[in-house]
Amino acid sequence: MTIFSPFDATLGRGAAQRRGALAPCVALIGCDGSGKSTLARDLTALLGREGPTRSMYLGLGTGDLGRRIGRIPLVGALAERFLTGKADKAHAAPDKRLPGLATALAMFGFSLARRRRFERVLAFRRRGIRVVTDRYPQAELAGGFDGPGLAWTRRGSALVERLAARERQLYEDMAAYRPTLVIRLNIDVETALGRKSDHTRAPLERKLAVMPTLKFGGAHIVDVDATRPYPEVLATVLALIQVEAPAA
Ligand SMILES: Nc1ncnc2c1ncn2[C@@H]1O[C@H](COP(=O)(O)OP(=O)(O)OP(=O)(O)O)[C@@H](O)[C@H]1O
Ligand SMILES: [Mg+2]
Repeated sequence: MTIFSPFDATLGRGAAQRRGALAPCVALIGCDGSGKSTLARDLTALLGREGPTRSMYLGLGTGDLGRRIGRIPLVGALAERFLTGKADKAHAAPDKRLPGLATALAMFGFSLARRRRFERVLAFRRRGIRVVTDRYPQAELAGGFDGPGLAWTRRGSALVERLAARERQLYEDMAAYRPTLVIRLNIDVETALGRKSDHTRAPLERKLAVMPTLKFGGAHIVDVDATRPYPEVLATVLALIQVEAPAA
């Protein structure tokens, strides 16, 4: 796969397009409740005054989907128990085998949907449009955390192992495009629980432990204390982007 160099801020947008360069991409990452979606929305509006800017959700959405299904009486309760069981098996026990074909296909389908949204991000960037992403795919760690759902190190049926290998490649291809700037929104578990009342402590703690270990292929990562009042966090992140990932 061709890896384009980050957009050169000294070029005009037209020149950048002619050279095949990419407009900046700012990735907002952090635990659930760190403020990614809220910031993505507000930043896009504010940055849009300086130059064309779009936002894109690059998560899987399975957590929210599971919770939404869980709110439907009876069916919801059963489906949620099923999905949560699958997710726990897939995410929490590294010594376990890969899931069965149905679950593996569902996970692979979610990854394909994510890749489609990732391609839209690239299309915007090629047209000189700066993009703020809500989450960013990584190829460093399997089993959630915006990496592959199927852990490529585990054994399973031959077909599921092939799906896992194929899924890993999807993430390698996406992660080869490093964001111009990664903003890591740091919060503690109490803040996360306070902002996301339908979440439970253990998965949040796992996510909080993993977040600082992800490197996003060596991208430029800036840490932001996202426990501070929202207007302060927004102002900090806006200023960072204006300096590190300016519009064309
Ligand atoms: N700095 C802040 N101070 C207080 N409340 C905040 C702050 N940032 C976000 N919030 C609030 O916390 C809640 C969660 O924020 P948001 O949905 O943006 O988080 P998220 O990172 O997108 O979470 P998820 O990963 O679950 O999608 C929202 O109600 C939002 O208004
Ligand atoms: Mg969100």
